[in-house]
Amino acid sequence: MTDTKIPLAGVIGAPVAHSKSPQLQHHWLKSLGLKGHYIPMHVEPEDLERVLRTLPAMGFVGVNITIPHKEAVLQIADQVTDRATLIGAANTLIFRKDGKIRADNTDGYGFLENLKAGAPEWDPKSGPAAVLGAGGASRAVVASLLEAGVPEIMLTNRTRMRAERLASDFGNRVQVYDWVQAGNMLDDAMLTVNTTSLGMIGKSELRVPLDGLRRGTVATDLVYTPLKTRFLATAEAQGCVVVDGLGMLLHQAVPGFERWFGQRPTVDSAARAAALR
Ligand code: ATR
Repeated sequence: MTDTKIPLAGVIGAPVAHSKSPQLQHHWLKSLGLKGHYIPMHVEPEDLERVLRTLPAMGFVGVNITIPHKEAVLQIADQVTDRATLIGAANTLIFRKDGKIRADNTDGYGFLENLKAGAPEWDPKSGPAAVLGAGGASRAVVASLLEAGVPEIMLTNRTRMRAERLASDFGNRVQVYDWVQAGNMLDDAMLTVNTTSLGMIGKSELRVPLDGLRRGTVATDLVYTPLKTRFLATAEAQGCVVVDGLGMLLHQAVPGFERWFGQRPTVDSAARAAALR
């Protein structure tokens, strides 16, 4: 039997077996000496609402949400934060004491914190950012960059319509560029972000010409398997400051952990090692 006094959290997805969150959250629980469990749960879309409504009574204080439920969960939650609404997806749920489910999106926060830690000299206001990709992750990145004060975002995506839809949701600081000419926008970028899945182990490589990347500007990749993607290796060879994507995974997990278990965890080399275990 589960001791209901021990707070429970977890991650819900389909599939969920690959998730690095359980190792990370258990590392933090252990290093902070806190009681709690964090459980991966494979839940199919048709069962999502029933499972979410059942978990609070079982002692769950919240969950992370991953693919394919990040958008659908907005329809189920009783409260959705403004940033989750703007992004159109949530990754962190809080089960409130009054039984209500609150949905938030911490991906943008995780993205920015990772950049601040890995490239502290980067000033958001210093110039435009180039963003490759216009999927769910891109929406979180764009939202956080605009909030941080980036003057202009140059956005490109294989499927141009998707980039145009994103741009129209976020206003005129987002300009859409053709995927086939994506290399051209890099000349002006102070920050270049790959939000596509290209370069991930098992996927195709990112084929965008990267010779426009300028020395001293920042390049970051949301892909973290491998840690050093070809995009980051090329950027580094051209003198960019490079920031890998694992830190975003770690930082986006901080607000949920703090809310559920009551202490703010540290993102350090031990946390990185735990997530890679
Ligand atoms: P996520 O939530 O991780 O962003 P997603 O919403 O499926 O996942 O988005 C995946 C991104 O990778 C999109 O920008 C996608 O481009 P399309 O909108 O054109 O599909 C991009 N992507 C995936 N495979 C790609 C490929 N072979 N070539 C170019 N872009 C690709």
